[in-house]
Amino acid sequence: MQSGLKDIESQIGEYKIGNKDELESFRLKFISRNGLVTKLFDDLKSASKEDKPLLGRQLNEIKKLAEEKFNSHKLRIEESELRREESDLTLPGRNFSPGSEHILIQTLNEFVRIFREIGFKVTDGPELEEEFYNFDALNTPEHHPARDMQDTFYVQHKADKKKKYVLRTHTSPVQIRTMLANKPPIRIICPGKVFRNETVTYKNYFMFHQVEGLYVDKNVSMRDLKGVLSHFVKKFYGENTKSRFIPTFFPFTEPSAQLDISCILCKGKGCKTCKNTGWLEVGGSGMVDPNVFKAVGYDPEVYSGYAFGLGIERIAMLKYGIKDIRTFYINDVRFLEQF
Ligand code: FA5
Repeated sequence: MQSGLKDIESQIGEYKIGNKDELESFRLKFISRNGLVTKLFDDLKSASKEDKPLLGRQLNEIKKLAEEKFNSHKLRIEESELRREESDLTLPGRNFSPGSEHILIQTLNEFVRIFREIGFKVTDGPELEEEFYNFDALNTPEHHPARDMQDTFYVQHKADKKKKYVLRTHTSPVQIRTMLANKPPIRIICPGKVFRNETVTYKNYFMFHQVEGLYVDKNVSMRDLKGVLSHFVKKFYGENTKSRFIPTFFPFTEPSAQLDISCILCKGKGCKTCKNTGWLEVGGSGMVDPNVFKAVGYDPEVYSGYAFGLGIERIAMLKYGIKDIRTFYINDVRFLEQF
């Protein structure tokens, strides 16, 4: 029996399996119910008691060898058949629809282009931000009631337990980072994602985009701020679009102003979208608060500056008449293809 085992082992090793038929012949010859390996198990019954354990072990190894050979060739043959089907040249060709930029990216790019034309440089900052930059240096210390203006996602940083981290609630921390790293004059915009722990509605999302603007130099005035934002509004929405500035409060600007534009849909006459006021809000702005200058080591007696922060989703909603902010993030191609 020993020599029979060796013989079958070498037959298994040498057997050529190139296709499905040969695979089936291999199965029939060695591992089917009447196959050679199965027959050897029958022969084992008549072996002597002393020889049985060794022969049994050898036989099991041969059976394993045959089964492994069978399975690996089966897999290879199936895969190559699948590949052949995939590259069937008689099948009709597939259509590839080229992707296009998301409407929010298009809006951001348009925004950036307008500000670049008038000398603003583009910069960026981290989305996972230290509380210091997001709040403290922006004249909003801990327990200051103004912190409640923006519902915040607090983050525990595993490696750095000393500092407190947040998902930035606005792009304004980039003002601080830029001023700490540079001397005036500064003229930057910073587009980016921000996060707020807010209930989602047709106009509020928990993650959205803002563009921050900052200009610092000697003798910068509120008139410069109004001029630059009005210029943006006309370039972006059309020459006939008006802007207005309404007094408001931000801890990091004094005075502060909300930027409104005349309603795009009703041309200022009053409609449902503008709640019959004729005006729509697009962002916040103001003159940099002296305390912010002090936090970055600028002398507020020497320098002055303005800052603004506009919401990109809201800006795009107004330009394209999009009624629900959630539409941007559902990724329905019927919506995306319109832009
Ligand atoms: C701020 O975030 C200030 N950092 C803006 C600023 C910068 C003021 C520099 C002064 C100087 P506010 O929370 O109002 O302000 O947000 C600014 C804009 O972001 C809003 O006008 C709106 O367009 C947009 N926005 C605010 N919350 C949401 C939200 N949940 N979903 C979508 N857009 C939002």
